[in-house]
Amino acid sequence: MSKPLNIGIIGGGFMGRTHSNAYRRVTNFFDLEYQPVLKAICALPEDAARSFAERWGFESFETDWRKLIARDDIDVVDICLPNNLHREVAIAAAAAGKIILCEKPLAMNTAEGQEMVDAVEKAGVANLVSYNYRRIPAVTLARQIVESGKLGRIFHYRANFLQDWTIAADLPQGGDALWRLDVAAAGSGVTGDLLAHCIDTALWLNGPMVDVNAMTETFITERTHQLTGKVEKVGIDDACTFFCHFKNGSLGLFEATRYARGHKALYTFEINGEHASIKWDLHDLHRLEFFDHADDSQVRGWRSIHVSDGDHPYMDHWWVPGLQIGYEHSFVHQVADFLTGIAKGEAVAPTFRDALETQKVCEAVLASAKGHSWQQV
Ligand SMILES: NC(=O)c1ccc[n+]([C@@H]2O[C@H](COP(=O)([O-])OP(=O)(O)OC[C@H]3O[C@@H](n4cnc5c(N)ncnc54)[C@H](O)[C@@H]3O)[C@@H](O)[C@H]2O)c1
Repeated sequence: MSKPLNIGIIGGGFMGRTHSNAYRRVTNFFDLEYQPVLKAICALPEDAARSFAERWGFESFETDWRKLIARDDIDVVDICLPNNLHREVAIAAAAAGKIILCEKPLAMNTAEGQEMVDAVEKAGVANLVSYNYRRIPAVTLARQIVESGKLGRIFHYRANFLQDWTIAADLPQGGDALWRLDVAAAGSGVTGDLLAHCIDTALWLNGPMVDVNAMTETFITERTHQLTGKVEKVGIDDACTFFCHFKNGSLGLFEATRYARGHKALYTFEINGEHASIKWDLHDLHRLEFFDHADDSQVRGWRSIHVSDGDHPYMDHWWVPGLQIGYEHSFVHQVADFLTGIAKGEAVAPTFRDALETQKVCEAVLASAKGHSWQQV
């Protein structure tokens, strides 16, 4: 008999939905000691909170996150709020002894992130940051291939995250979803939003970065603010490109933008090693491309691995070999791994402390762009 674990999600937007879906489905596919119970959603305004609770099957709703955290019947606080609220909510949740799952990026900057790490570690509560791309089976397989040593010495790591949704000059900043354009709510633009994913994956696959050299651009410098109604300066980076040295001696090249017309969410990475290379593309997320120089030269070439077999990461929990899964499943895997860690009393990566490393790289990238200089991470 599995034990109930009461979940309180704060934030009823895009991530509130992906996390709710994951908690609902996880025990249909994974054998877990804990059965997540959707106890409370906290969202704004009240009618949105009520309808979110009804649609996703929450037992109750709140409109004040402090009330949700104060409830004795909540075990896990799941933070799906804009970036500027992560710190305060996480620190309050840690002080209340709650298990915490926090959306990425961990914080607005490194100083805030450090406070959050200190809070969860002092409280001794289980914590995880939602860098969910790690848990797409093809990306997990990439990690297994790197760890196996098949690539040999790594020379290059290359990643892109390209979108085009902010090109219109009349798009306002601030408010639901558009808080991403408001530096006071987001902390930064594509660096904290998109590159943070690329950096987390890179640190996981290729180890720490030593130094970075970046450039950022804000193509549209003024936008109407939804909350004030006034035209206000835009403080975020619309695009960011940086290169870096990794500790293992390889070179990194990263680009993120919301001005790549035609691209909606093209996240790609490629790793080139002495013996082999791998590459991955979010738009074809169930495939991993692999090139092995040791193959017979007559048939040597990039092979496209359909990551859907029973011995591929996570796939034995789903349908039958050959049938693929998608984006939402990375969140199901995240919850499955987190609940397994909680049951065993083991930390699950990326913890707040792990995610602080990504935050440090983001901060070095922004400082480098501002100062036109190399920055140590
Ligand atoms: N892991 C990923 O791939 C991924 C993808 C998207 C977003 N995110 C992260 O998730 C977080 C949320 O992003 P989102 O896309 O869900 O944003 P969103 O705008 O869709 O949702 C945010 C929600 O928070 C609510 N909210 C704001 N202030 C509140 C408050 N004080 N109390 C209660 N609710 C409040 C808003 O009403 C909104 O519904 C961000 O940190 C973002 O960076 C991660």
